[in-house]
Amino acid sequence: MTVYKRKEVAFVKILFLCSGNTCRSPLCEGIMNKKAEELKLPVTAESAGLAAFPGDEVSLFSRLVAEKMGIDISAHRSRPFNLYMAEEFDLFVVMSESHKAALKDFIPEEKIIILGGGIPDPYGGNEEVYSDCAKRISEGIDELISKLSEIRIHPMTERDVSGIAEIERECFSEPWTEEGIRSELRNENARFFVAEFMGEAAGYLGMHIVLDECYIANIAVKEKFRRKGIADKLLALGEERAKEEGCAFITLEVRVSNEKAIALYRKRGYNEMGERKNFYSSPTENALIMTKDFQ
Ligand code: COA
Repeated sequence: MTVYKRKEVAFVKILFLCSGNTCRSPLCEGIMNKKAEELKLPVTAESAGLAAFPGDEVSLFSRLVAEKMGIDISAHRSRPFNLYMAEEFDLFVVMSESHKAALKDFIPEEKIIILGGGIPDPYGGNEEVYSDCAKRISEGIDELISKLSEIRIHPMTERDVSGIAEIERECFSEPWTEEGIRSELRNENARFFVAEFMGEAAGYLGMHIVLDECYIANIAVKEKFRRKGIADKLLALGEERAKEEGCAFITLEVRVSNEKAIALYRKRGYNEMGERKNFYSSPTENALIMTKDFQ
């Protein structure tokens, strides 16, 4: 996944795609960026066309209806989609099934979204047609934002392995390898969950259950998605699962200097039970043992 940094804040990059990149997708780009700014979402949008010529101006009516929405897209020039974009962007939002079909060979299907169930091409229409198109785009983007803003949690599958490895690399000095993570899929004691947010694997929780004991092997959330309640939600679900499986308590180790994680565990009712000396390496540090009793 590409992480695009602006003012030290990482953004999810969305590419809107239509045919010519002169009518629908520049409008999408402008509307999305305006809403993202207003809602302070970690999202940035650009646009391109699947059958575009480079350098064409935005169509007159797209520019006018955007202007009426307080958005200036006059400087936009069309550009064709290319394979670098397939690497550069995190999500690809298209206007029709045929656009989706054109992308399928280059981009994983789960990263392609049809905006608002489909946005008809206003090309050749009058201002009213374009105004109607902008309204549909705006509604489609509202739907997209609320879908991306949901925190959705699912049990880890093979498809999540690379996403979790990326979270590990971002969060830890000694990250788990993909092979290490994959081996947990075969471990009958393992319960691993992935939180999806803004269309990507944003965080994960790994636990091991043996008899009536649950051990939290790890929990991590990508930096750009922190303080949105993702870890809290993952832990709530993990604890629920441990209780359902008859666990008497849940326990974990955390670096004594890891104030954020300790605050998270305290908030969720974990108590400090003692320390393990020099438990961690890179850098060497004691571990705090924290436990939550279910009885
Ligand atoms: N400062 C103080 N308290 C914090 C905090 C911070 N930066 N981040 C989280 N918390 C505490 C707060 O009590 C917070 O509740 P509040 O927002 O109502 O005040 C609570 O944790 C829940 O926060 P949440 O938004 O769910 O946490 P998160 O999704 O940002 O993830 C971590 C928290 C610790 C998992 C995340 O910072 C992370 O991935 N860190 C790196 C990996 C790591 O250290 N994992 C723990 C290994 S033991």
